[in-house]
Amino acid sequence: MTSSTVSSPENVLHTDYQRSVAAYWNAERDPVNLRLGEVDGYFHHHYGIGDYDPSVLEGPADTRDERIIRELHRLESAQADILLDHLGDVRPHDRVMDTGSGRGGTSFMAHDRFGCAVDGVTISEQQVAFGNAQAAERGVAGKVAFHFRNMLGTGFDTGSLRASWNNESTMYVDLFELFAEQARVLRFGGRYVTITGCSNDVTGGRSKAVSRIDEHYTCNIHPRSEYFRAMAANGLAPIAVVDLTPAAIPYWELRARSSVATGIEEPFLTAYREGSFHYLLIAADRI
Ligand SMILES: C[S@@+](CC[C@H](N)C(=O)[O-])C[C@H]1O[C@@H](n2cnc3c(N)ncnc32)[C@H](O)[C@@H]1O
Repeated sequence: MTSSTVSSPENVLHTDYQRSVAAYWNAERDPVNLRLGEVDGYFHHHYGIGDYDPSVLEGPADTRDERIIRELHRLESAQADILLDHLGDVRPHDRVMDTGSGRGGTSFMAHDRFGCAVDGVTISEQQVAFGNAQAAERGVAGKVAFHFRNMLGTGFDTGSLRASWNNESTMYVDLFELFAEQARVLRFGGRYVTITGCSNDVTGGRSKAVSRIDEHYTCNIHPRSEYFRAMAANGLAPIAVVDLTPAAIPYWELRARSSVATGIEEPFLTAYREGSFHYLLIAADRI
């Protein structure tokens, strides 16, 4: 049975960097996250994929903004659906972990789809409170719970999880440390999935656009090659790699024309178009 945990910041946050990331997410009230989540109660802090319906940019001006918001949210939920499509045969009695869970949109979608227990882990106490309030409202608090814990040391039992994922949350941590912890908590044959932005080793060092994204989010985007090195070093064998970059571009184009644009749209579009940055899904099995 899943239960939420109250921990103290001293036990969870070990570095000044982690404290600054936690402070960022505790203070975050960005309309691009809140207004989209309010569409149907699934709050995401990730980007969307797939083509948008161009009609949302036309039609009556008084409903245009609302229609664009709904369309951006639909693309963000489509992104979470693709991640869950790669999670394998998860059953209702299984446990899975949403690693760096944000306000929990992907966690609730996973529970809806598989009926399994979901533990969300985040270093933001504000997000833990938000997610647990939502779980109570939905009547699933016994199955979906959010914990104030560090993904580099989650405290969950070794080999206890059928599956685990990082949805746009690997760029805050060292990949070798992260995958060591993922490999520890996954059972043999358990599935790990990440969707992440990563820099392109082939175009060379970090591009200006990628550096601007890092600075905007106080994160540290890893090169593509590092994912595979760190997985191989920790008993995670890739089974699928999907380049979602072309499918990510329409979302950013629509977002750039929306009322919830944050100013980071141009660096994303530049980085994707010039090829210095990829949007990748990687699925791996614990061996
Ligand atoms: C971009 S948000 C993604 C949220 C969520 N996965 C989603 O798709 O909506 C990044 C998340 O990673 C979490 N995070 C960053 N560093 C962390 C760490 N060391 N341990 C646990 N969570 C962390 C943040 O608190 C935040 O919830």
